[in-house]
Amino acid sequence: MMRSTSALRALPRMPLARGLSSTASSSFAQPAEASKPAAVKSFKIYRWNPDTPAEKPKMQEYKVDLNQCGPMMLDALIKIKNEMDPTLTFRRSCREGICGSCAMNIDGVNTLACLCRIDKDTAKPAKVYPLPHMYVVKDLVPDLTLFYKQYKSIEPYLKNDNPPTKEFYQSQEDRKKLDGMYECILCACCSTSCPSYWWNQDQYLGPAVLMQAYRWIADSRDAYTDERMDRLQNNMSLYRCHTIMNCSRTCPKGLNPGRAIALMKLEMATGAPVKHQGV
Ligand code: SF4
Ligand code: SF4
Ligand code: FES
Repeated sequence: MMRSTSALRALPRMPLARGLSSTASSSFAQPAEASKPAAVKSFKIYRWNPDTPAEKPKMQEYKVDLNQCGPMMLDALIKIKNEMDPTLTFRRSCREGICGSCAMNIDGVNTLACLCRIDKDTAKPAKVYPLPHMYVVKDLVPDLTLFYKQYKSIEPYLKNDNPPTKEFYQSQEDRKKLDGMYECILCACCSTSCPSYWWNQDQYLGPAVLMQAYRWIADSRDAYTDERMDRLQNNMSLYRCHTIMNCSRTCPKGLNPGRAIALMKLEMATGAPVKHQGV
């Protein structure tokens, strides 16, 4: 096993929470423009196999004719897996930006492979890595065990000991406060782009989980607001965020976890709900 301080680490620990792509459906990678002349692009992809831990991670190159491939990075990965190398491992499920499984680092940016268009410039190789600063299970699959554990720790569900017997009323104004937070698909692109999370992820919750913490703090129906805030009142869980905003820049769903964290800090400092119409 190896652990390095570099951006890419490799150490299998726990079973996967999401399915690996062991067999890629060929329906995702149909030829797009079969009659055109070849437009061959190189894809350099991070490879590491836990079955041969003594072998260092490496970049492996594959060449794909873009006229025989769908337009998205996930199409290229599936084509490579189906037609060139079935050992290439990555997660994917919905292929439409809903499940969050295909998060990876493409050309230096954390994003979803299924929402990321292939750069048509064939002179420029595409470089694909797993999400940075995470342990690697295999190839492009990061170990998200800690991420899910942190998510669980904020109790991401409605807590109210006296719920109404019928409708749980919420004004339109209060409901609006959840906009920009409930849409999060927990892909972890933001957390793994955050320098504070890179260095302190054993204690700092990171932007994705903190935004969900605020999603429940801001929910007018939840009765545990004070307890939820108390749990974040320490040096590490929340206040390691230094408003660098990498998280908001990289979110493939266009959400703004940096702003959610700032609103939560303000709410905790003033002890009163902040007026806003979503994050
Ligand atoms: S806030 Fe955006 S980047 Fe972060 S986990 Fe949610 S969807 Fe992914
Ligand atoms: S704003 Fe906070 S959470 Fe977002 S990248 Fe910066 S330090 Fe991390
Ligand atoms: S495959 Fe589901 S988000 Fe990309």
